[in-house]
Amino acid sequence: MKLEIVPDYAELSRRAAEIVIAECRKRPQIVLGLATGATPIGMYRQLVQAYQRGRVSFLRATTFNLDEYYPIAPDHPHSFRRFMHQQLFDQVDLAAERIHFLRGTAADVERECSRYEAELEAVGGIDLQVLGIGENGHIGFNEPGTPFHLKTHKVALTEQTMRANARFFGSLADVPRHALTMGICSIMRSRKILLLASGEKKADALAAALLGPVTEAVPASVLQLHPDVTVIADKAAAQRLA
Ligand code: F6R
Repeated sequence: MKLEIVPDYAELSRRAAEIVIAECRKRPQIVLGLATGATPIGMYRQLVQAYQRGRVSFLRATTFNLDEYYPIAPDHPHSFRRFMHQQLFDQVDLAAERIHFLRGTAADVERECSRYEAELEAVGGIDLQVLGIGENGHIGFNEPGTPFHLKTHKVALTEQTMRANARFFGSLADVPRHALTMGICSIMRSRKILLLASGEKKADALAAALLGPVTEAVPASVLQLHPDVTVIADKAAAQRLA
């Protein structure tokens, strides 16, 4: 595992974008695994700028997002799909048919999860997976206690995660209670993983994930078992790593 501690969020965003850009240049037909949430917003901004300056193209790239609320309409103002369109998809040259998302409106959840896994399989898996980390150590929406062997599945969000996400919805009551997420097993199949952590609220979770035992109680701790993980943390998030 490679750990890069950077001074602040701006530098984290720049470094993360540089890694994504380098991988996209190496392999224009790259399969990217993408995260939503506050952490990667700066990185997406950097990627859009790099695209506008002609430093990177996503024309041949494929994307899979980690997760989506359930139920939620794709054009709901707080759906992850809408978030990705605003932050990245609508501003770069990604081909619509190569953008993959879990459908928050799927009637048959099991079928939807199998469809996603089959699509992942069909493209040969993810080359570079970008992850954030929850305050409780979750990755994707794999909450503490999620078995490591699970593939894409439906989850009940914890109270803590719903509270953390209420900042986007305005009120806790409006946060969907469930989500569909790639499982730990699906995430661990990625060839390369980039974990981003910013701010002191993530310090405990990051320390538990990187220094603690590998346990389903801290989903991100599974990354200790992956052969190619880069962690970029700002000083605030890294304060308990010493
Ligand atoms: C989002 C996701 C989540 C977030 C995590 C951190 O697609 O999978 O695991 O990465 O909740 O969220 P932020 O970045 O908002 O602190």
